[in-house]
Amino acid sequence: MAGYTPETTAGGAGRGRARHPPLSSLVVSTIAAFSAVVVFAILRSAYDGAVSRTTTLLGHNLEPTPWHPFPHDKGRPPARAAFRCAPKLSCLPPLAQPQPEPGANASGGATPRQCPAYFAAIRRDLAPWRRAGGVTRALLEAAQQRASMRVTITGGGRRLHVELYYACVQSRALFTAWSLLQLMRRYPGRVPDVEFMFDCMDRPAINRTKHGGDGDPAAPPPPPLFRYCTTRDHFDVPFPDWSFWGWPETNIEPWSKEFRNIKQGAKTRKWQDRVATAYWKGNPDVASPLRVALLSCNDTNMWHAEIMRQNWDEEAKSGYQNSKLSSQCTHRYKIYAEGFAWSVSLKYILSCGSMALIIDPQYEDFFSRGLQPEVNFWPVHVAGGGMCESIRDAVEWGEAHPAEAETVGRRGQRLMQELDMAAVYDYMLHLLDEYARLMRFQPVAPPAPAQEVCEASVLCLAGEKQRRFLEASAARPAVSEPCVMPPDAGE
Ligand SMILES: *[C@@H]1O[C@H](CO)[C@@H](O)[C@H](O)[C@H]1NC(C)=O
Ligand SMILES: *[C@@H]1O[C@H](CO)[C@@H](O)[C@H](O)[C@H]1NC(C)=O
Ligand SMILES: *[C@@H]1O[C@H](CO)[C@@H](O)[C@H](O)[C@H]1NC(C)=O
Repeated sequence: MAGYTPETTAGGAGRGRARHPPLSSLVVSTIAAFSAVVVFAILRSAYDGAVSRTTTLLGHNLEPTPWHPFPHDKGRPPARAAFRCAPKLSCLPPLAQPQPEPGANASGGATPRQCPAYFAAIRRDLAPWRRAGGVTRALLEAAQQRASMRVTITGGGRRLHVELYYACVQSRALFTAWSLLQLMRRYPGRVPDVEFMFDCMDRPAINRTKHGGDGDPAAPPPPPLFRYCTTRDHFDVPFPDWSFWGWPETNIEPWSKEFRNIKQGAKTRKWQDRVATAYWKGNPDVASPLRVALLSCNDTNMWHAEIMRQNWDEEAKSGYQNSKLSSQCTHRYKIYAEGFAWSVSLKYILSCGSMALIIDPQYEDFFSRGLQPEVNFWPVHVAGGGMCESIRDAVEWGEAHPAEAETVGRRGQRLMQELDMAAVYDYMLHLLDEYARLMRFQPVAPPAPAQEVCEASVLCLAGEKQRRFLEASAARPAVSEPCVMPPDAGE
């Protein structure tokens, strides 16, 4: 341990002062040397203990989620992560508060913005706990068995703690903690104190039927569990996924920048110049029968469809030159196919302004509830005549009704334009507000080994590329009020 050399050299210097030291001095230096060894041993064991207990948002010392295993190099955190990034050292109060957007109008505008209609889903998602009389601590604790972490916000919406149970794939946990910190930065002191369980893996877990969703009065209320998606058959609560703050592993930029780039790229190809076929590019090897079946529609003559394989490992090697989303708005029709669960690709596909052909989605994320068939996308069905036939019919309809097809595409793009980061943060804020109102207990910061998380500790843990994405997605304090929720439809 190089860090402890000062003690040993101090002892050595003491011995070097006199050639023939008197006995008393010899005793003193022996005692000093002995104490140094003892202190060293104590510090070393404390250090080892701390490193072996330290879990991080990168998944150190954590097993992957048992319900969704993935290759994970567990490992102890490097000393850097264990100590330099420790909240005690890195989470000191910042010297300067972040400033609002330059040129922003501090008066905030007189008329408050209405939230997009799909914000109404927040009340629907939380309805089971309204019916059950609220979220009790016992219900919350019951959700732990399917959670990868517990998230606690205290101190009037100013302090964030996470208690980590399992590792999440790639940098999801890191970026999700960051998303909460940015919400707190955008709305200082406005985020409610809350405590919730979060699973950052793909598939929903809380079975609706088993928890009274079909009207069984004897069924127990569902444990509240946040994740990135849900389905109609589940009570998981959808929350914006990490990719809005960037996805370094696939080189996808934070959403505000990525959307701008895609829209810019889309402008260079007018509708009439786009290829009159349906296009899909993605990874078919994600344990998704749907994507495998989609490969068989790869025939421009018979099905008017082009299905291309995305190989992320190859892409990474070639510097992502062929996977730029902004140069993929080349076709009039763009296919969206779910993968292992929901897919973050939905928003990039809709951004092109091509008509999105969405194949029977099972999963919902927070904004996909804003999709309306034949209004802002075109539905493709697997059942009935078959998926390839359904794709072919959609393309033939679009070619027979070019103005309508273009309008559907444009409305899809507008849905994405309105899904700016302001809307994403507002969704998070309203969701946490409504959830906090249902909580029947006071949130308390969990004791160690749970950790406080702050921007500096997240940035400290992040690798170079992750750090670049995190910094690029930092929020500014809002200069206007959050959008106003759509009226309560009764549930
Ligand atoms: C700021 O808002 C006020 C009132 O809402 C308006 O009169 C003023 O022109 C705005 N200034 C800028 C720079 O937008
Ligand atoms: C929920 O549980 C019921 C009853 O055990 C089962 O039939 C159904 O398939 C489950 N639903 C899901 C989505 O797992
Ligand atoms: C689909 O067909 C095209 C043209 O024949 C081919 O280049 C491409 O590799 C095919 N896609 C897949 C996933 O095999």
